[in-house]
Amino acid sequence: MTAGLLGEAIAATTPSLGSVPGGEVPAHGFEAVANLSEVKQRLTEAVIWPMTDPDRFARVGIDPPRGLILSGPPGTGKTFVVRAVAHESGAAFFPVKGAELLDKFVGESERGVREVFARARAAAPSILFFDEIDALAPVRGRSTTSVTDSVVAALLTEMDGIAERGNVVVIAATNRLDLIDPALMRAGRLETHIELGLPDLEARRAMLAITDVHFAPDVDLDAVAAATAGLSFADIAGLLREAALTALREDATAIAVTRAHLDTALARRPATT
Ligand SMILES: Nc1ncnc2c1ncn2[C@@H]1O[C@H](COP(=O)(O)OP(=O)(O)O)[C@@H](O)[C@H]1O
Ligand SMILES: [Mg+2]
Repeated sequence: MTAGLLGEAIAATTPSLGSVPGGEVPAHGFEAVANLSEVKQRLTEAVIWPMTDPDRFARVGIDPPRGLILSGPPGTGKTFVVRAVAHESGAAFFPVKGAELLDKFVGESERGVREVFARARAAAPSILFFDEIDALAPVRGRSTTSVTDSVVAALLTEMDGIAERGNVVVIAATNRLDLIDPALMRAGRLETHIELGLPDLEARRAMLAITDVHFAPDVDLDAVAAATAGLSFADIAGLLREAALTALREDATAIAVTRAHLDTALARRPATT
């Protein structure tokens, strides 16, 4: 079985939260991610280079980047691009959603934190991904629940521990960078900050060029890119889905989305600006 098929099988059968001993392998790679070339480059440097050519950093006299944090509005591709780099690297991937960890380890979230780090270490080289980390690591002293201060402390301790060895890359993502305890972003921890914004015209056009959705010949993708100003990648994905469902509703044997379907879906969306 090839890595791709195995990855698909795992992705189809396993829940996230790193509940698999060997981690999971996401089904899509960088080819599915439109634009975001700087983000892909930074992730490649931090995740893939240390695995393929660790001496590269030593040759210029630096340590590899240890941890990264991605921030930006919802739907800008944070989760999507991290899953893609995990696929590209083939490393064991442990995605953890902030709120899910709190739920799963009610009252003992520090143990949860230690456990996910232990799993990632055992499977190294690996990627530990704290998605929506704001739920887990709010500025200390300001959280609404009493557990989170000690959760932040546990995160700091664990991150400092793996910084020594560097075969576990920690990646975090958040829509709310302002809520995160700044101690997490100091040197040796989530020191590389990458900010994602809403896609510009070129990025939207690039996404339309690689989507799996089939367009009829009357669709002008430049016009669709122009008409979707202010929308996130997630909004556009939702729009295409809606247009495709409209096509199927009209004709159950439809094989493509026409301009009229797209116009209908666009008209249904609330105005963005
Ligand atoms: N760069 C991209 N290229 C193509 N599709 C994208 C891209 N970024 C996001 N998407 C689409 O938008 C959806 C939501 O993106 P996601 O990564 O979950 O956003 P968030 O920044 O909120 O984590 C993805 O599942 C995917 O369908
Ligand atoms: Mg996300």
